[in-house]
Amino acid sequence: MQQTLQRERLALDGGRPVRAKPLPPEWCGAHHMDGAELAAVERVVRARSPFRYYGLALQREAEQFEREFAAYLGVKHALGVNSGTAALQAALAALGVGFGDEVVLPGYFWVSTVAAVVRSGAIPVLVDSDATWSIDPDKVEAKITERTKAIITVHMGGVIGRVAELVRIARRHGLPVLEDCAQAAGASQNGRKAGTFGDIAIFSFQLNKHMTAGEGGMVVTNEAALYRRAFAVHDLGYFRNAAGRLEFSDPDAQLWGIGARMSELTAAVARVQLAKLDGICRRMRTAKNRIKAALADLPGVRMREVLDPAGDAGSFLYLTFATRAQSLRFVEGVRAEGIVAAEGGMYPIHFDDWGLHIYYNIPSLVAKKGIGARSVWDLAENAGSDVSYGKGTCPVLDSRLARSVVMCVASNLTDDDVADIVAAFRKVGGEVA
Ligand SMILES: Cc1ncc(COP(=O)(O)O)c(C=O)c1O
Repeated sequence: MQQTLQRERLALDGGRPVRAKPLPPEWCGAHHMDGAELAAVERVVRARSPFRYYGLALQREAEQFEREFAAYLGVKHALGVNSGTAALQAALAALGVGFGDEVVLPGYFWVSTVAAVVRSGAIPVLVDSDATWSIDPDKVEAKITERTKAIITVHMGGVIGRVAELVRIARRHGLPVLEDCAQAAGASQNGRKAGTFGDIAIFSFQLNKHMTAGEGGMVVTNEAALYRRAFAVHDLGYFRNAAGRLEFSDPDAQLWGIGARMSELTAAVARVQLAKLDGICRRMRTAKNRIKAALADLPGVRMREVLDPAGDAGSFLYLTFATRAQSLRFVEGVRAEGIVAAEGGMYPIHFDDWGLHIYYNIPSLVAKKGIGARSVWDLAENAGSDVSYGKGTCPVLDSRLARSVVMCVASNLTDDDVADIVAAFRKVGGEVA
C-alpha cells in the first residue's frame, strides 16, 4: 500500500476526530481549589475581618502570605497587592521611573506591562525576542540611552529566557532589572526561581495564573528601600510600620498611593494555593514534556527554546511552523480533531488571536495615546525618544508570531487527555508540516 493511503484522514477532510469531549479550560490554579480554600475563606469571614490592618478579630492572612511567599522564593521582602498590574505600577515607582525616563522591555508581554510604564510617565522602548521568546539580550544594549531607567523582562508562559545575560548587561550599565513573573510563579532556571534574578519582581494571582485567588499580586525584592517605596505606592503614598501605623518621616517614601492593598480574603486563598503551586506546575510540566517528546520527530514543527526544561512551569506550549499557512491549517486541523478547551477556555489558538499579549495589537500604544489630550510621548521631558510600536518594530517576534500556535496545558489533564493531544498533534502535524 502506498504511504498516503495509510495516513488517517483528518477530521477537517471528513475523517473521524480523535476526541469527542472538550479538554479542561486553562485556569491552572482554579482546578485545584477544594475544601482548603473554602476553609481559608471561612476563617476570614467568621472573624469578620477582611481588611489586613485592623478588624474585629484580625487573622493576619496577608502578613503570613507575604512571609510564606518570601520564604518560597528565598527573598527578603514580599508585598501583597490586589493585582499584577498594581504590582507593576508599585515596582516601577519603587525604581523611581517617571517623566523623562525610558524603560526597555520586550514586545511580547501582557498589555499591563507596557501600560504600567506609560502610566508612570515614561517611554517604553521595545526590544525583539530571541529563540526563548524572551527579550533578546543581544539586542538590549543598542536600546540603552542616557535616559534608560530600568529594564523589564517578562517570563511569558512559565518559561525564563536568557535572564543571567540580561542582568549582566543591566549591571554593566548600572540599570535595575524588573522581572514580570505574572505568568511564571513556580518557574525556575538551574534551581533559581523566577523573581530572584533581578532587583525587583512582580507576580499575579489572577484566574489564568499558576496559583490564583481570582485576583491578587505580589512585589518581591531583597532591597529594603525598594520595598518601602513599593509599599508606599500600593497603599496611601507612605510606609506603615509593623503595627500598621503610617510613617511620614522617610523622604524617599513620600509618594502617591494607588490603593492596591491585598485583602485578607485574597491572602487566605492565595496561601492555600501557594502550598499547591509546585504540584500544579509539576503536573503541567509533566504533560507538556510528554507532548513535546512525542512531537520531537515531526519535521517542520519547531518548539520554543527552553534553557532548563526542569524549571519550565509547563503552562504553555508554543509551536512554530515554517509557513504561516501551515500554522493556520494546524490550528484548524487540531480543533477539528476535538482538541479544544471547554466553554470559556481559549486554546489551542493561533498567535493571530493572542490579542493584548503582542505590542502591535495595542491601539493606544501604536497610536501613542494619552489619557487626557496629551500623552507621555508629548511631554517635553520625553522629547527626543526615537520609538515606534507598529508591526515591524520587532521583526523576529513578528515573523514567529505569524507562524505559531499557542497550546495551553491545563493543570488537570489525564493521561488519556495527553494521549489525545499527542495523537491529534501528530496526525495533523504530520500532514501540514
Ligand atoms: C505578563 C503579565 N504581566 C502582568 C499581568 C497583570 O496581572 P493582573 O491581571 O493580575 O493585573 C499579567 C496577567 O494578567 C501578565 O500575564
